[in-house]
Amino acid sequence: MSSQITNTLSLPSQAISQLQLAGSDELLLAIHDRQLKREQMLVLGSGSNVVLPAQLPKHVVTITDRSIAVVDEDENSVVIEVGAGKDWHELVLETLEAGWFGLENLALIPGLVGAAPVQNIGAYGRELSGCLLAVSGVDLVARAIRTLDANACELRYRDSVFKGRLRDRFVITSVRLSLNKKAHVNADYPSLARALAVSASSPTPMEVCEAVISTREDRLPDPAEIPNAGSFFKNPVLDDRPAERLRTEFPECPLFEAGGSFKSSAAWMIDQCGLRGFSMGPAGMSAKHALVLVNHGRAQQADVLALAAHVQAVVAQRFGVTLSIEPRVYPDE
Ligand code: EPU
Repeated sequence: MSSQITNTLSLPSQAISQLQLAGSDELLLAIHDRQLKREQMLVLGSGSNVVLPAQLPKHVVTITDRSIAVVDEDENSVVIEVGAGKDWHELVLETLEAGWFGLENLALIPGLVGAAPVQNIGAYGRELSGCLLAVSGVDLVARAIRTLDANACELRYRDSVFKGRLRDRFVITSVRLSLNKKAHVNADYPSLARALAVSASSPTPMEVCEAVISTREDRLPDPAEIPNAGSFFKNPVLDDRPAERLRTEFPECPLFEAGGSFKSSAAWMIDQCGLRGFSMGPAGMSAKHALVLVNHGRAQQADVLALAAHVQAVVAQRFGVTLSIEPRVYPDE
């Protein structure tokens, strides 16, 4: 194996090769010319949401198309098609500069556009699902180019069809988004509202974007300085009974209604267990934000998973809640 795979947790990981392909046509050609089978390939963006093993016996495929094209437009809205290789945060800034609103709450999320639908990226009160119209790419079983509309993507909290039925089967090469030309600001998220209260009373989308950037910079460690993969656990989603139990036993525990269930706060639970800033060997939970697992130096996948298992066990014992790991761990268990 010969190719070191870039990932924001900075775990050492060698793949067989790394193929940079422009889009669907190049991918189909490469599959044909190299006789690549679906099981031999692994598609990665910038590696910001993965926990990689030292040896990855795969050809890693990265889509490089960074284009933005307007496909429809009227006085209120614009529909754009964006290549999967575009940096997400660059897209947020460029759309705002063009006067196209809707992505401002999702500023500074690491990663590429093609990865955004996979975990339905979301932050500060908005999710990608609010503006996604369709996803195009290659179905590796049919070996054909396909477009899936938003419904077919089955976007949920940190979840989609690309993590389920179509995992390792559908390579996203572009994403179609609907954005507004008139601002509909959503600034209710508590930490965002606090950041804006000191700067603007009826904020513009650009001001929301700036507040999101400064909030993220304050609260989340920068992967370029301290390697990490963002939130390492999903926030637990609970039914009535366990939610009621939490509310009774731990009245301080954050609990929000979310589509018939209750979403709690994994960061709060980890913090309450005294694990913010806790280290086990070269891996640790960030001292800045309890939900972010960081690599202090030479961590390998096993160090990360050992710490994650410890955190899960301590939280389960104290709160009776099982935390699920958010980034994808390779190979699948
Ligand atoms: N909190 C603590 N201790 C901490 C950090 C937070 O007790 O160390 C408490 C906060 O006081 C607050 C609650 O936990 O009551 C929630 O904290 P925060 O607003 O930071 O949000 P989060 O639920 O921890 C989620 C996303 C983040 C996203 C933020 C903002 C998930 C798994 N994570 O975190 O996404 O930026 O909301 O919307 O849903 C990511 O996925 O990589 C990511 C950073």
